[in-house]
Amino acid sequence: MKKIIVTGGLGFIGSNLIELLINKNYYVINVDKVTYSSNFYNTREFKKSKKYKFVKCDIKDKKIRKILYQHKPVAIFNLAAETHVDRSIDSPKNFIQSNIVGIFNLLECFREYTKKYNSKLIHISTDEVYGDILSGRSSENYPYKPSSPYAASKAASDHLVYSYVRTFKIPAIVTNCSNNYGPKQHPEKLIPKLIYNILNNKPLPIYGKGTNSREWIYVKDHCEALLKVFYKGKIGEFYNIGSNKNLNNLQVSKELIKISKSVIKIGKKVKILFVKDRPGHDIRYALNSNKIKSKLNWKPRTNFRQGIKLTFNWYLKNKNYYKSLAKKDIIKRLGTK
Ligand SMILES: NC(=O)c1ccc[n+]([C@@H]2O[C@H](COP(=O)([O-])OP(=O)(O)OC[C@H]3O[C@@H](n4cnc5c(N)ncnc54)[C@H](O)[C@@H]3O)[C@@H](O)[C@H]2O)c1
Repeated sequence: MKKIIVTGGLGFIGSNLIELLINKNYYVINVDKVTYSSNFYNTREFKKSKKYKFVKCDIKDKKIRKILYQHKPVAIFNLAAETHVDRSIDSPKNFIQSNIVGIFNLLECFREYTKKYNSKLIHISTDEVYGDILSGRSSENYPYKPSSPYAASKAASDHLVYSYVRTFKIPAIVTNCSNNYGPKQHPEKLIPKLIYNILNNKPLPIYGKGTNSREWIYVKDHCEALLKVFYKGKIGEFYNIGSNKNLNNLQVSKELIKISKSVIKIGKKVKILFVKDRPGHDIRYALNSNKIKSKLNWKPRTNFRQGIKLTFNWYLKNKNYYKSLAKKDIIKRLGTK
């Protein structure tokens, strides 16, 4: 059975990706540092599978080299990262360590490993590297102009990966995806936070005037795109992955209130509450994903209405998911400096 390493597999996208890879009959080694955003709840369906192994390790550690030679993976999907913009405002250091120093170590180990073995590194990145896109949509050759320490650390990691492709000829591909939503996302992020508040009869905090616009993609569509990139993507290329569907935070909140009302009786305190905006908050991200659609024949399957329903129902059925997280990590406001 072919082996694949997924880093950051206790997190949101990583755990959804592992489920898909196991279903495709790969043996998956999940390498995760176990930070506050990781959650063993996310791997409970497959943690006993014979096709799954968990290794606690920081991607910055030398142990990565040993893991590579021990398992000889045909691919690494790198999802290990600090991911919350607000936290990058309060303490950027962790972002530099995991997202830049971490990928540097991974690249060094991978460079050595691929001199002997065939493999591919798929480095998962974000649309935030392009910065504010006030009109139109950014394609892969759009300049990078990150606005937050988070986005800047991801931009640096993308540049490092590309430089290793050019200089050392390592087999790597970078993907830049838009905002994901779906099961297993940490409630510090907008959609699971709103759902938590709806389920707990609390107001729905919206930054600024709620006009910031994001392109929303259902996490399982993102994971399928990653698989396509692994199978058919061209080494050294960048691929945008998006749904082409933009909604602002206010629209997302209203949609969620509507869906929840159709499923449960919601409390009186569930109302939109405008709160102080995040510093440096980008107005809009929007990707042009024509390249992956035309070259790799991928397109998202789930529209926002379907995806948000599936998402709401998952959190409703999995209330223990919230219990498995520290309460302060769910409700504390961060990044207001
Ligand atoms: N969530 C999104 O909307 C989105 C969109 C585009 C791209 N991305 C990218 O996808 C990747 C995964 O995002 P997510 O939303 O699943 O994040 P997440 O915060 O839910 O999970 C990140 C995981 O990485 C682990 N981790 C952090 N630092 C590590 C380190 N140094 N070594 C090993 N493990 C480490 C954490 O413990 C956690 O389990 C990130 O690289 C992120 O930048 C996310």
